[in-house]
This record gives sequence, structure tokens and C-alpha cells, in this order.
Amino acid sequence: MKIFSGIQPTGKKHLGNYIGAIRQYVEGQDEGDPAIYCIVDLHAITVPWDPAVLRSNVHDTTAILLAAGLDPERCILFRQSDVREHTELTWLLTALTAHGDLNRMHQFKDKSAKQRELVSAGLFLYPVLQAADVLAYKADTVPVGEDQRQHVELMREIARRFNERFGPVMVEPEHRIPEVGARIMDLQQPSNKMATTGGSEQGTVYVLDEPAAITKKVRSAVTDSGTEVTRSGEGKEGIANLIEILSVARGSEMDSIEAEFEGSGYGDFKGAVAEAVVDYLAPVRERYAELRPDEAALEQALAAGAEKARAIAAETLAEVRPAMGTGPA
Ligand code: TYM
Repeated sequence: MKIFSGIQPTGKKHLGNYIGAIRQYVEGQDEGDPAIYCIVDLHAITVPWDPAVLRSNVHDTTAILLAAGLDPERCILFRQSDVREHTELTWLLTALTAHGDLNRMHQFKDKSAKQRELVSAGLFLYPVLQAADVLAYKADTVPVGEDQRQHVELMREIARRFNERFGPVMVEPEHRIPEVGARIMDLQQPSNKMATTGGSEQGTVYVLDEPAAITKKVRSAVTDSGTEVTRSGEGKEGIANLIEILSVARGSEMDSIEAEFEGSGYGDFKGAVAEAVVDYLAPVRERYAELRPDEAALEQALAAGAEKARAIAAETLAEVRPAMGTGPA
């Protein structure tokens, strides 16, 4: 099984990214043949950015992924812009993508509404680049959080269209969305997902947060005026989110957590969640501090990954070009 996923470069990866996606990348390493993970710097330039910050963010994200347990010997980890086939395939796939489908993408609607100056054409084409990322490797499985479901549906549609018109080159990828933790919510606004932009600072736990900051954020999480630690019932979004977080951080069932905290009130429960999240993220933060300073080593890891990735993507493009009639036969 070929696994592929992408992640945007930012130094501010949060608990939602970690639980919804990064955790799955690490688990997928030994299952994927290969497992391919891409830091998508070209996606990052679809909204305003600073060039120097972007380069540094790629290093931050590389170090976070390595610290989380990705091992370049067991997976392919690379930077998107190092493999030119992604951009070429994007353009080729735009010919098969309906404008109307792109207009319906939730992420485009949300992000374009937030732009004050320029809504770039790149933001509109974002899902086509994402489809090219996956289709270039003929990946079967795409581990992502819930918010990426629609983008994976679109890449399946594009793959189907390609195959109907030009023959069976593309693989229709399937999403892998975890049963627990696919949509971690903002701790201050539990009806909104935890997000890098647009979320509340106090409601967003970052992977690199110090233990004291994590504890403070979890302890001040918005809940309801009741006392029961349960996922069901009106207004329980905040508590349900914390139950889900604790379930993943501890590796225990949500039902057993509800049973454990029956009758104990929110104070004790929040204390337990804070402690579990601190323990869950501490090893990553510590390892990150060791890895991040050595930028030459990070670049070396990315370059080695890019070489392996390029070899696979080049083979796909060598099939795609003649099928579409571009370039020499
Ligand atoms: P990015 O960097 O925004 O998000 C990375 C991953 O984190 C997941 N995620 C969440 N999971 C649970 N709860 C949350 N609150 C939460 N917020 C984010 C996302 O679902 C994602 O899996 N478009 C992609 C990047 C990408 C990609 C790809 C993914 C580019 N090419 C190809 C898969 C395949 C993104 O939004 O990344």
C-alpha cells in the first residue's frame, strides 16, 4: 500500500494537526510501501507570506515531524518544491478539473473570505496541487483530518476523469480519517476546529508549547455549566473535545474515561487532561530542541527524501505526458 500525505510548513503545528494527522504518519511508516510525507511549501504561498519565514517554517516543520518519530530510513520525507513534477502535474490536471467543483470547496470559501487584499488564483487552485501531490505517487491511502475529506473526494474525481479519458494511469486514493481525533476543537470556542489561523490563541495548544502553557490552556478550556464528564447531551462540545483529546493522549477508550470521571467534576478531569497532554507532547518538544538547530542536517534529510520522491513522480509523469499528448510521443 502506498501512503501519501502533505502538511503545511509552519512552526505552529497544533494538537489538532498532531492528533488528526502526524500521529497517523508515524503509525503509517511501517505499513506504507512506501509512506511518503511532503512539506507543502507551494501550498503555503496561496495566502500572504514572507519568503524568509517560509524557509524557516519548512525547517520547523521538518524538525517537528522528525521529533514526532518520522524516520527518513523508513519513510520518504521531502519538500514539495524540490520535486518539480508536482507543479507540472498540477497544470495538466487543471484541464480535467471543473471550475464549479473548485468553487464548492469549503476551504476556498473560508480562506478567500478572510483575505483582505488579494484572493490569489493559487488559493483557488490549491486543491488541484493537492491532487497532483497524491496522484503523482499513485498513492492508495491519504491519512488526513476530517477537514480534508472534500479535497480527497475531489482528487478521486480527477483521477476517475483522467482514467476515463486517457486510460488507466491514475490510482483513486482513499482517505484515512481517524475514528477518534479527526476534528479537534478550539478549547475556547469548542464549536470551531482548532486551527493555525482564525482560532483563539488561548484555545490552541501548540506541539511546542511549554508544559505550563499547556496546563493553563487546558484548565481554562470552555465547558458547560453542568458537572458530568460525558460526550452526550446539549452543550457538551467542550467536554466531548477534552474526552477525545484524553482518549488519544492516554491511548484509552472514551467510554472508560467517562466511567473513570463519573461524579468527579470538571476540575479533576481537566487536571488529568492537562497532565496527559503534557506527557504526550513533552518528548516531541525535547527532541525538537535537539534537532532544530542543525539546519544542514535537516536540509540533507529533505534532499535525500526529494531524490527518492522524484524517482517515483517522474515515472508517473512519463506515463501522463504521452497519454495527454503533451511533449514528444
Ligand atoms: P495542514 O498543514 O493545514 O494540516 C495538516 C493535517 O492536520 C489535519 N488537521 C486536523 N486534524 C484534526 N483536528 C484539527 N483541528 C485539525 N486541523 C488540521 C488536517 O486535516 C491535515 O491532515 N491541505 C493539507 C495539506 C496537503 C495535503 C496534500 C494533505 C497538501 N497536499 C496531499 C494530504 C495529501 C492541509 O490542510 O494541511
